[in-house]
Amino acid sequence: MKKIGVLTRDCAGVNAAIRAVVRSASCYNIETLGILRGYQGLIQGDFKILSRSSVSGIINRGGTILKTARSKEFFTGKGQLKAVMNIKKNKIDGLIIIGGNGSLAGAHILASKYSVPVMGVPATIDNDVNGVGMAIGADTAINVALDALDKIRDTATSLERIFVVEVMGRDCGYIASRVALAGGCEDVILPERHFDIRKMSAEIAEGNRRGKVSWIIVVAEGKAKAGDIAKKIRKNTRLETRELVLGHIQRGGSPSAFDRILAARYATYAVEKLRKGETDKCVTLKNEKLDTLPLAKAIQPKDIEINSYYKLIKILT
Ligand code: F6P
Repeated sequence: MKKIGVLTRDCAGVNAAIRAVVRSASCYNIETLGILRGYQGLIQGDFKILSRSSVSGIINRGGTILKTARSKEFFTGKGQLKAVMNIKKNKIDGLIIIGGNGSLAGAHILASKYSVPVMGVPATIDNDVNGVGMAIGADTAINVALDALDKIRDTATSLERIFVVEVMGRDCGYIASRVALAGGCEDVILPERHFDIRKMSAEIAEGNRRGKVSWIIVVAEGKAKAGDIAKKIRKNTRLETRELVLGHIQRGGSPSAFDRILAARYATYAVEKLRKGETDKCVTLKNEKLDTLPLAKAIQPKDIEINSYYKLIKILT
């Protein structure tokens, strides 16, 4: 193996992973080509050589130095053929694809349909890659959201208000459940659980009568909108209720130590496995040990542990 390509989505820790790919590949005299703007760059042949020195000073930076884009074209036969042609034309012997479900689904197409050697590296704040305990970026996203929640609590307590805070996560309640527990929040609305707004409003009103005057309710974007929930609570309780959408701040920022370490371990292992001929797989940790799993499995829906977290949130409120 002489040359590999690296293609990414964006979240905190992705740059640390790019750095690890380039530097570990160079230890085996493998050259790395950075593919700009994700699958769109692969289709357009938008590549740049990444040297050891070109990835210095990026371990602490959020986003992706390669930039990224959503590519509808890649999910057409024509787009895929263009991508494969560019891989051949540029003599790329294998690809490391760093991203979430969409990126890994693309990786699976390249490997299974076109026999391109591919290793995936899970990186998504949603942490919804099946068979992968932790994806790069999820830890930072939780900490960013937690920092915001702590600040909101200052105002919620001082002004005796109710806040409904919407967090990202696509269809998965991972961020919402973990942040609600870490932030000592009063309740959480999750895609994986049924919720009853009347029951919640009654609990808030009852709490208010007992003297519990400030609440923070986390809502996962995959279940409801913070504005709608706040409106209903206001209507049902007549208490002052504000909404806040945290949005993309959760995806950016300097990666936590956990994400940098994970990025270093995942990316280096992915290069080693690709070099040894493994393909159509993505890296993961099993009992703290690095391992791989088939991409076909990784892109299936993930069953995340929610109920025990929800129970804890309610016990500790
Ligand atoms: O998958 C990561 C994620 O940030 C989700 O949490 C969110 O639903 C989505 O991407 C937002 O996508 P975009 O950046 O295209 O608006």
